[in-house]
Amino acid sequence: MADYLEIAKEKFSSLRSKKDVVILAVESSCDETAVAIVKNGREVLANIVASQIEIHKRFGGVVPEVASRNHILAISNCYHEALKEANLTANDLDAVAVTYGAGLMGALLVGVNFAKALSYALKLPLIAVSHVHGHISANYISHKDLTPPFTCLMVSGGHTALLNVEDYCEINLIGSTVDDSVGECFDKVARVLGLSYPGGPNIDRCAKLGKNNIEFLNHTPLKNTYNFSFSGIKTAVVNFVHNRLQRGAEVDVNDVACSFQELVTDDLVEKTMRFLLESGSKKLVVAGGVGANSRLREKLEKVCHEFGVELYLPDLKFCTDNAGMIGSMAYYYMKSGIGLADLTLSAKPNVDISLSVKK
Ligand code: KG4
Ligand code: ZN
Repeated sequence: MADYLEIAKEKFSSLRSKKDVVILAVESSCDETAVAIVKNGREVLANIVASQIEIHKRFGGVVPEVASRNHILAISNCYHEALKEANLTANDLDAVAVTYGAGLMGALLVGVNFAKALSYALKLPLIAVSHVHGHISANYISHKDLTPPFTCLMVSGGHTALLNVEDYCEINLIGSTVDDSVGECFDKVARVLGLSYPGGPNIDRCAKLGKNNIEFLNHTPLKNTYNFSFSGIKTAVVNFVHNRLQRGAEVDVNDVACSFQELVTDDLVEKTMRFLLESGSKKLVVAGGVGANSRLREKLEKVCHEFGVELYLPDLKFCTDNAGMIGSMAYYYMKSGIGLADLTLSAKPNVDISLSVKK
């Protein structure tokens, strides 16, 4: 054990000056079992994602225990597939990275324990990465020219926040949701509309066929702040649907989806643009699953063009959970000398979004 720790520490410091660094990353925070191999933080040599969507669909959402069990079944195969896809052997790897939080405890533990065992067996440094930072890093894969500083709109299933990314590992929180995340809100609204899990893409699809013609009662987004609140709109939509059903009236799913999506995306765009204008920032990066929303992308493209802001949207396959983004962020943690974990590493259901190496 002592040997392993010494070797891992030494290898970790030597990586900072190594020309090419190949990191194998593991991600299991929710319902995707993912293993990727990433070179120098930007080049994805393999990106394996074993999705459990079909399994959780019949429950209408992710069942944590079911997710953990399926991670256990899939993870070893994902690892072997990743090496095969990259045409590499374990000897070609320089480090093992893993998402240690935020996420579902049992699900995270599967990835964390797999990565610990792997790093110990291969005598490689283990890098513990925050899932939220990984979502930001997805953009370094999609846009090879993207470098900090920039403003980031983080819109995932677990987080909604505006961030000031001064450097790869200098991340400051500007504002965040005071209740639900925007992804959670999309999923809940989809559920009440009878759309299957995950709700976001289904709302997106239905909204294209509907009209923005419904005013939901008692809903006004938070004003004069960079914080968000989505529980009010969620409840307003749920009440609207229930009231109509109780009265025996029809619910036009497409119109509800469209009206809801317009309201939520307007709020996200308005706050983001206000921050950009007030701070003078000219670069906007979008991160997280809701970043795949076609209406949000369209609105941001329009306003960014209008105000001369450079907009970076991650490729759709890197918007939602994957291990490529974790391998990318692990590289930048390593370059800043942070993230080295030992075999006592555990999972954390919640992690801070802010990050600083200056301290
Ligand atoms: O970032 P992510 O994969 O998971 C977390 O880290 O939490 O985000 C998943 C969320 C889900 O709530 C899903 O419904 C939403 O992203 N999502 C979308 C779209 N695609 C995925 N929401 C709206 N429109 C989409 N096209
Ligand atoms: Zn995620």
